[in-house]
Amino acid sequence: MQTKRRHIDGRHPEAELLKEAAELLRAGELVAFPTETVYGLGANALDASACVKIFEAKGRPQDNPLIVHVCNRAMADNLVANWTPEAELCVQHFWPGPLTLVMPKTSKVPEVVTAGLANVAIRMPSHPVALRLIEETGLPIAAPSANLSGKPSPTSGSHVWRDMKGKIPLILDAGSCLVGVESTVLDVSGGIPTILRPGGISREQLEAVLGEVRVDTPSETQAPKAPGMKYRHYAPRGEMILMIGSSKRIIQRMGHEIQKGHARLKKVGVLCSLESAPFLHNQLPELLFVLGSKNRPEEVASNLFEGLRLCDERGIDLILAEGVEEGGLGTAIMNRLQKAAGKRVLYM
Ligand code: TXA
Ligand code: MG
Repeated sequence: MQTKRRHIDGRHPEAELLKEAAELLRAGELVAFPTETVYGLGANALDASACVKIFEAKGRPQDNPLIVHVCNRAMADNLVANWTPEAELCVQHFWPGPLTLVMPKTSKVPEVVTAGLANVAIRMPSHPVALRLIEETGLPIAAPSANLSGKPSPTSGSHVWRDMKGKIPLILDAGSCLVGVESTVLDVSGGIPTILRPGGISREQLEAVLGEVRVDTPSETQAPKAPGMKYRHYAPRGEMILMIGSSKRIIQRMGHEIQKGHARLKKVGVLCSLESAPFLHNQLPELLFVLGSKNRPEEVASNLFEGLRLCDERGIDLILAEGVEEGGLGTAIMNRLQKAAGKRVLYM
C-alpha cells in the first residue's frame, strides 16, 4: 500500500486535508493523526472490520482493547451505558485532555474494540487536528498509539512514518506532540476510581477533584485491568539499565558502565537530565541524549520516546537511563522507563 504523509497545521488544520482523512475513515480505512499525547492510529469505532485493520497494521495482540476518541459529549453518550458521578467530574475537569475513562459500554461498541470486555475506554483529545478530524468524520474514532506493537509510542510524524509506511493510506503530520506520554487510563465504572495506566493527568490532579484514587498494581498472580499493561512496551533493541537515586552516584556508575561497555565493544547511549549531561559528556558515549531538566518533568515526558527511538536508530547496544523523581508526571515517565528497561533497575 502507498502511504501518503500530509503536513497539516497543528493549530488551524487545513479543511481539505481533514476532508480527505475523514473520507478515508468513513470508508473503513486507517488514518494516523496527532493528539496532544502521542499519535493515534484511527479507524471508525463503530465498524468492526475497520478496527480489525488496526490490529493487523500494528501487529497488536487481539486481547488488547482500543481507546475510542470523541469530540463531544453526545458522541460519548452513544457508547456509554452508565456515567458515575466520578465520571461526570472527570469530564468537567479534564476533557478535552489526556484522560481516558473506562465505563460500561452500550451494544453500539463492537466487541473487537473492547476485546470482549464489558467496559469501553473513551477520551476526548485536546489537539485541534484530532478534535476537528473526529468532528469532520462525524464518528467516534478507535485509536491506539500509532506505533508497531512493542515499540515506543510515536511522538512525531516521522516516528509514525517509520512504523506505518506501506501499511496505511494516510498520515496527518503536525510535528511533535506536546505531552509526549500517553493518556492516563482511569476506571470510573463504579467504586473507587482506579488508575489502570499512569499518564498525562497525574494521580494528584485526579485526587484534587475526586478524593481517593487507587492505582491498579498487578501482581504475579493477578493480571492488570488494562490488558495492555502486561506487555513489554517501549522496548528498545539494545539492553537498557535504569538508574534511580542520587545524581552523583548515577553519574559515577554511568561512567563506569560506559567504560565497561566500550571494553566489550558495545555502542553505549545515555539518556539523562540536563543537569547530569555535562558530567557524562567527557565519558564519550556514542549517544548522549538530554531528556530535559530535573525541574521540568513536562520536558522529559515530551522527549522520552524520541530518546528511546533514537537509541535504536543509532544502533545502540547498551542504554543507560537516569530516572526522574516519582509523583505528578514523574510517575508516568518512570512507568515507561521501567517497562523499557525490563527488570534492569539499579537503586543507588
Ligand atoms: O494517549 C493515548 O491514550 C493514546 C492516544 C492515541 O489517544 N492512545 C493509546 O492507546 O495510548 P493504546 O492502545 O496504545 O493504549 C491503550 C491502553 C492499553 O493499555 C489498553 O489495554 C487500555 O488502554 N484499555 C483500552 N480499553 C480498555 C478497557 N475497555 N478496559 C481496560 N483497559 C483498556
Ligand atoms: Mg500503545
